Amino acid sequence: MSDWTIRPERPVDFPAIRKVLVAAFGEDTVADGVDRIRASWIYRPETSLVAVSDGEVVGHVMITGCTLTNGAGEHEVAMLTPLAVSPERQRRGIGAALVRAALAGAEGAREPFVMLEGSPEYYGALGFVPARKHGIELDHPVPDWAPPDAVQVYLLPAYDPADPTLRGAITYPPVYG
Ligand SMILES: CC(C)(COP(=O)(O)OP(=O)(O)OC[C@H]1O[C@@H](n2cnc3c(N)ncnc32)[C@H](O)[C@@H]1OP(=O)(O)O)[C@@H](O)C(=O)NCCC(=O)NCCS
Repeated sequence: MSDWTIRPERPVDFPAIRKVLVAAFGEDTVADGVDRIRASWIYRPETSLVAVSDGEVVGHVMITGCTLTNGAGEHEVAMLTPLAVSPERQRRGIGAALVRAALAGAEGAREPFVMLEGSPEYYGALGFVPARKHGIELDHPVPDWAPPDAVQVYLLPAYDPADPTLRGAITYPPVYG
């Protein structure tokens, strides 16, 4: 049985979340980005979650908004980033549990899909598939070091493959720099 629980983040958690982010990523950039997300229109508190064990924050995930552009115009879709687990708590399933809980929140919000840019091995095992297979791309090239299928989507029950407004180009919000 797992010895952690998952719940939405609260302002009182923010310093502990920063510690997890800095430890997991080895630098401040992502933690600084999370501060900017919380101050922007893309912030979705209901899908910004922490994993807590013995009263301590040990993991964190966010699903935020980003922009999908196509012939029908621009609209907001869901993006998962960042995901982090304290180094000493990794490889126990906490990361996977955070992703599943965040996806359940997006499903509850009737989102058609959740996109992200990340490891195809890690996220593929959780049900994500290459976004290009569903007509979803970035509006900018992925970096040379990223695998070709780094841009992925998780399709939710509200997804309709016949709906052309669910295809198009993703723009990252300015908070990502
Ligand atoms: C990625 C991360 C959140 C996974 O958390 P976790 O709690 O260890 O994940 P889980 O326990 O659910 O899954 C661990 C499995 O995923 C694999 N895995 C972990 N990171 C991986 C990666 N970047 N690529 C491929 N597989 C990875 C591990 O090999 C492990 O599998 P195994 O135990 O069978 O060998 C954690 O390693 C982390 O915080 N990393 C630093 C921050 C980061 O890179 N975040 C992702 C940004 S997209």
